Amino acid sequence: MKLGVNIDHVAVLREARRVNDPDILEAMYVATQAGADQITIHLREDRRHIHDTDAYRIAKLCKVPLNLECSIDEEIIDIVCDIAPHRATLVPEKREEVTTEGGLDVIKRFDAVTKAVKRLKERQIAVSLFIDPETKVIEASKETQADMIELHTGAYANVYAMLHSNLGASHHRIEALQKPRNELEALLENELRKLQESAAYAHSLGLEVAAGHGLNYQNVRQIAAINEIIELNIGQSIVARAVFSGLESAIKEMKQLVSH
Ligand code: PXP
Repeated sequence: MKLGVNIDHVAVLREARRVNDPDILEAMYVATQAGADQITIHLREDRRHIHDTDAYRIAKLCKVPLNLECSIDEEIIDIVCDIAPHRATLVPEKREEVTTEGGLDVIKRFDAVTKAVKRLKERQIAVSLFIDPETKVIEASKETQADMIELHTGAYANVYAMLHSNLGASHHRIEALQKPRNELEALLENELRKLQESAAYAHSLGLEVAAGHGLNYQNVRQIAAINEIIELNIGQSIVARAVFSGLESAIKEMKQLVSH
């Protein structure tokens, strides 16, 4: 199983202060040194975290493949063609969303998606489509000539979090999932089965299969156990874990500096 490390959240922290700290290139070096098989970044239309200069520099300096997530907007595709990453992952994008909510609607936007796939493949950029685990969407994805799909694990992760973490007790609880335990357990099983069946079906059609979104140290095992999935892209939980695995030494270092 390959691990793509999504370093967007390092840029989120940087943009919060409009400085170059933490440096996205340092994140790229640390991630690759730690064993990341791929660096994943999302060049959003609103440039809320990753900027064009980041993407160009990472594409130039990264020693592992770069997976560049982007919308199917024509101007963005122009830029991605120029950056020429190893792979582009086409995702839906809404300016008002906090993160990528739901998969690309390949059926409704079939012509526009197919056009984006064609343009990228003409530039020798492999293309993946970030989609919900649904049969019809997988079939449409195959028809666009995309090489790969990435299954959206967000629905599975949400149910998992409401069932097994303290999310339900926080202000970010998911109201639609305020349900009794047995109902959540059935929902979780259903979401997992959809991912398993979708991975097997896509693989049988000759598509490579990745997965991602909302995967963390608790919920990743069952997804990593799905045979047909060859790659996971994970960001938020790794950066969140890094805060606590690094906070103690960061404070000690500063304490030493200010004490002398
Ligand atoms: N894969 C895709 C296509 C995404 O859009 C994202 C979020 O940027 C991820 C994976 C990583 O999700 P998370 O940050 O929740 O691990």
